Amino acid sequence: MIRFNKKKKAADYSGLIDRNNLPKHIGIIMDGNGRWAKKRGLPRSIGHAEGAKAFDKIIDFAGKLGIKVVTCYAFSTENWSRPDDEVAALMSLLLQYLKDGLTKMADKDTKVIIIGDTKGLNEDIKEGIRKIEDSTKDGKSMVLQIALNYGGRQEIISAAQKAAKMAVSGEIKPEDIDDKLLSSLMYNPDVPEPDLIIRPSGEFRLSNFLLWGSAYSELWFSDILWPDFTADDLLKSIYDYQQRSRRFGGI
Ligand code: FPP
Repeated sequence: MIRFNKKKKAADYSGLIDRNNLPKHIGIIMDGNGRWAKKRGLPRSIGHAEGAKAFDKIIDFAGKLGIKVVTCYAFSTENWSRPDDEVAALMSLLLQYLKDGLTKMADKDTKVIIIGDTKGLNEDIKEGIRKIEDSTKDGKSMVLQIALNYGGRQEIISAAQKAAKMAVSGEIKPEDIDDKLLSSLMYNPDVPEPDLIIRPSGEFRLSNFLLWGSAYSELWFSDILWPDFTADDLLKSIYDYQQRSRRFGGI
């Protein structure tokens, strides 16, 4: 497990991070809601509701800090296999967020984009997505991507299918399919690839999150459960990121 310097208090990180070297794009796997609830003898849905509150606070803080893009993993293509009542609770939280977020995100000048296979979602969620994306489309200060019915492999498959169609129609030759072309066919090619991916809750995997874009992302793990994740933890992750040497395959 990657640990921070224990001698530093959380609050110290605010003064230590270099504001000129912030990660442009941070991906967050919001994991640990279920365990947070279980530890307190509460239903998992309460853990997700607390997770949604942590999400709100972290997005707000990241925006104030000057992070340009944040992508949060809210629901994966694999999450449908959870019990029906848990899926329903998650969908209801998401719907609520899409409604509440409309004016909140527009006021914060934040552009909200949903990435994932949105075709497979309920009509009311699809309507919520259309409204929030439309009302925040001119947001300039930050891009908030919510990964919803998202799978990294599915994102790559969908890009490959688009490229194959272009080749079949004669628009491109098969050998034109390269890194640059595939990148341009991902769900939202307008954002830079994630510099930093955060996964709390003590797990050490990407779980099908941003597989294409994470080729050179710095990964940061911690055993904090997502509902307990604070602005200080975000600062710690950024501090740690800034201590690393990113070589992108070079020396
Ligand atoms: C993983 O924790 C978390 C999820 C599958 C859902 C994440 C959703 C939210 C934080 C709330 C809704 C989001 C928005 C954008 C309003 P887990 O359930 O797998 O936890 P566990 O591993 O402890 O069981």
